[in-house]
Amino acid sequence: MRRTGVPRDNGLVSRTGLIIDCDPGVDDAIALFLAFGSKELDLIGVTTVAGNVSAALTARNARLIRQIAGREDVPVVAGAERPLVRAPVEADHFHGETGLGHLPVFEPVAPLAEGEAADVIVREVMARPPGSVTVAVTGPMTNLALAFAREPALPARLAAVVVMGGARSEGGNITASAEYNIHADPHAAQAVAASGCRLVMLGLDVTHQVRATPERIARIAALASAPAKAVANLLDFAVETERKHVEGGAPPLHDPCTIAYILRPDLFATRPCRLEVETESRLTLGHTAVEFRVGPDEANCQWATRANAEAIFALLTERLGE
Ligand code: BDR
Ligand code: CA
Repeated sequence: MRRTGVPRDNGLVSRTGLIIDCDPGVDDAIALFLAFGSKELDLIGVTTVAGNVSAALTARNARLIRQIAGREDVPVVAGAERPLVRAPVEADHFHGETGLGHLPVFEPVAPLAEGEAADVIVREVMARPPGSVTVAVTGPMTNLALAFAREPALPARLAAVVVMGGARSEGGNITASAEYNIHADPHAAQAVAASGCRLVMLGLDVTHQVRATPERIARIAALASAPAKAVANLLDFAVETERKHVEGGAPPLHDPCTIAYILRPDLFATRPCRLEVETESRLTLGHTAVEFRVGPDEANCQWATRANAEAIFALLTERLGE
């Protein structure tokens, strides 16, 4: 079967309905605020998965962010409580015990929508015309892999799957060679890569180019809106964890890159590649093997190589101010 990567500047993705599958998570929360503030997106729903923190907390956190953004019109559906095969691995050292850093947490008013994430993804996509729904994934790909297993027609039905995950030139951030989202469910990631869906991967190679400098944080903190105040709080926490765990300066803005790509694919450069995920090795579990030396018949992915950080922050700042 010929596998088709997504042309990066065809404007196709931003005109489609969007499902955001996430594990909030400090940077997932910022991605949600960016999406909630982008009125041109047709947000079908937010689905949550165990990842950075437990499934119960990621589902609560997505509802909490939705309430701050005043977007209770968007359903939140809870999903997988553990990875497909491997034991769960959380990242609460990067996101805090609640998953939201120092952001004050509360029990949101609006409840979860009924159903389970993988089933709801299948139902919502299959009910719409082919090529009219994009899925953005900012956590382990468990929900999407389950949905693909339940409905084999689903991968070809999607306009695109835009994922924050993987690393090629940057090395890993959870192990020497693996990025967290892929390491946390490598079997799900491999199933999605092998599915034939139109896959765009925004890994550490690009998210490490998009850094929350003091000037960029100050521009957001100066805004009056509740989402902007929350994002400034989340970014301050990210600065602290970057200092503590990475000895770095400005923290990378990982997950919002998915939404930025969907809104403005011209802010990224991508290359077609063959992507496979390591699922066996103890040492390199979740490593993304990215092979550019392939023809169109072998390519299964568009791999992001460059991002315009200044323009991505300008977009985020604009959408938080509206
Ligand atoms: C990814 O890992 C998670 O901890 C973040 O939320 C992001 O999705 C970055 O490697
Ligand atoms: Ca995440």
